Amino acid sequence: MGSTVLVTGGAGYVGSHVVAALAAAGRDPVILDNYANSEAGVVDRLRVLTGKSIDVVEADIRDVEALRRTFHDHPIGAVIHCAGLKAVGEGETRPLAYYDVNVGGTFTLAEVMGEAGVGTLVFSSSASVYGQPDSLPVPESAPLRPQGVYGRTKRTVEDFLRDLGRANPNWRIAILRYFNPAGAHPSGRIGEAPRGRPDNLVPLLCRIASGEFAELLIYGSDWPTPDGTGVRDYLHVEDLARGHVAALEHLAGAQGALTLNLGMGRGASVLEVVAAFERACGRRIAKSFAPRRAGDVAASYADPSLAERTLGWRARRDVDIICADAWRWQLNGGRYTR
Ligand SMILES: NC(=O)c1ccc[n+]([C@@H]2O[C@H](COP(=O)([O-])OP(=O)(O)OC[C@H]3O[C@@H](n4cnc5c(N)ncnc54)[C@H](O)[C@@H]3O)[C@@H](O)[C@H]2O)c1
Repeated sequence: MGSTVLVTGGAGYVGSHVVAALAAAGRDPVILDNYANSEAGVVDRLRVLTGKSIDVVEADIRDVEALRRTFHDHPIGAVIHCAGLKAVGEGETRPLAYYDVNVGGTFTLAEVMGEAGVGTLVFSSSASVYGQPDSLPVPESAPLRPQGVYGRTKRTVEDFLRDLGRANPNWRIAILRYFNPAGAHPSGRIGEAPRGRPDNLVPLLCRIASGEFAELLIYGSDWPTPDGTGVRDYLHVEDLARGHVAALEHLAGAQGALTLNLGMGRGASVLEVVAAFERACGRRIAKSFAPRRAGDVAASYADPSLAERTLGWRARRDVDIICADAWRWQLNGGRYTR
């Protein structure tokens, strides 16, 4: 496998950290992104951070001709496919867009990879494929019962990729089920830059602590968890990015499709994350409680032991480090533009 790796969605939150990790591992990342949910400014930051002249293709993942040109113009040996739509609520109101980009985009990518003779693929899946888990921690063998459109698009792509891997051993595919990525690069130069009010807890805490939003609304204080608030498996985005590099290295000697959880393997409640964030920023976070939201689950955290056995990978950075790194990014502006 050559050293050039195409990172679709490489301008996004996870993708940008994957690009930095690939460069640090001596690979040559090429980004393909249409900036549907990101800013071109991230690429300048990545070039400074990595000291590499990272190539960027501004294109839609569904644009078959643009993909063909990309594989023609670059000696791509592997693909990390992070491009996609990920707002769980929006998925319910725009199912066509979510299936089109997440599922249709992956079909187009696989078609062009096949034409180009590139069979090594790492795919960004999500713990949302599990829905309400029967027991904790959640192993890869747990039933797949996604609660909404977004999770169902991920399950559909997973099924498709496993079918590809079964049909043709030239495919070497790692399906990575992320739990809750959070935090930022320790340099404070790249991080999560959501538009509008953030959906995710840690970026919302950043914007509350900086005065942009007034308070945190916590959905549910009566979940069957130790403090009554929801428990999730927060995974530092740097650890997640390293997991992609480890998966690529593993695929060099693998065949077919492999599915792995990437998580810390333990949960933190909303109140625990708030406390960690208050320690990191030295400020109080105003908060109030609202009723539970439909579709939410009380607790979810990974059994990441298969990833550890297979890749020799484990997440090392805890919630305190996640919050400290996220806050450093926020102090540097927390955005790529304006
Ligand atoms: N962040 C999370 O909490 C999380 C959790 C589990 C899985 N994931 C998955 O990981 C991947 C990356 O997530 P993220 O948090 O970095 O999201 P993100 O929105 O920051 O990044 C996705 C990138 O894909 C690009 N994109 C969207 N539609 C595109 C299209 N049609 N063509 C080309 N590029 C397009 C966006 O511009 C963006 O840069 C997604 O597939 C997401 O579903 C994310």
